[in-house]
Amino acid sequence: MKFYNYKVSFDSIQKKGHVFSMLVALSLFFSCAYDDEDTLILSNPCDTVPITYSGVIQPILETYCYNCHSSNNPSDGIILDNYEDVKDIALEENSRLIGSINHEAGYAAMPQRQPKLDSCKLHYFDVWVEQGGLDN
Ligand code: HEC
Repeated sequence: MKFYNYKVSFDSIQKKGHVFSMLVALSLFFSCAYDDEDTLILSNPCDTVPITYSGVIQPILETYCYNCHSSNNPSDGIILDNYEDVKDIALEENSRLIGSINHEAGYAAMPQRQPKLDSCKLHYFDVWVEQGGLDN
C-alpha cells in the first residue's frame, strides 16, 4: 500500500513534469510566433517589389534627375543617365548620390529645388547600394 502510494505520487510528479514542459514548449512557441509578428511589423513596408536597377532605380533617376544630369546637360559634371556613371557615384566612398538625395550635411540637396524623394524611394537606393549596385 505504501509502495502504491509512492508510485501514484511519483506518477503525478511525472505528469506535472509533462504539463510543465508543455507550458515551456507552448510559451516558446508563442514567443516565437510573437517574434515573427514583431519582425513582420518591423520589416519595411516599401519592400513590395524586387529592387533592381532597371525596374526601380533607373526609372526614379529618369523622373527626378535626368533633366539636370543627362549626358547633354550634366550639372556639376554629374551624369546619371547610364548605369556605369550611376554606379560610380553611388558606390564611391561617402557616396554623393546617397548623401545628396538624403539631404545629408555637406552635400547639395537633390533633386535641386524639388521636395525630397519619399522614404520608400530613398530606401530603394539604400538597398540597391547595399546589394552591390548591380546592373540588374
Ligand atoms: C533642377 C536641376 C537638378 C535636378 C532635377 C537634380 N540636380 Fe543634382 N545637381 C544640380 C546642380 C546644379 C548641382 C550642382 C551642385 C549645387 O547645387 O551646387 C547638382 C549636384 C548634384 C550632386 C553632387 C552633390 C554634391 O554635394 O557633390 C549629385 C550627387 C546630384 N546632383 C544628384 C542628383 C540626383 C540623384 C537627382 C535626382 C534625384 C538630381 N541630382 C536632380 C541640379 C539638379
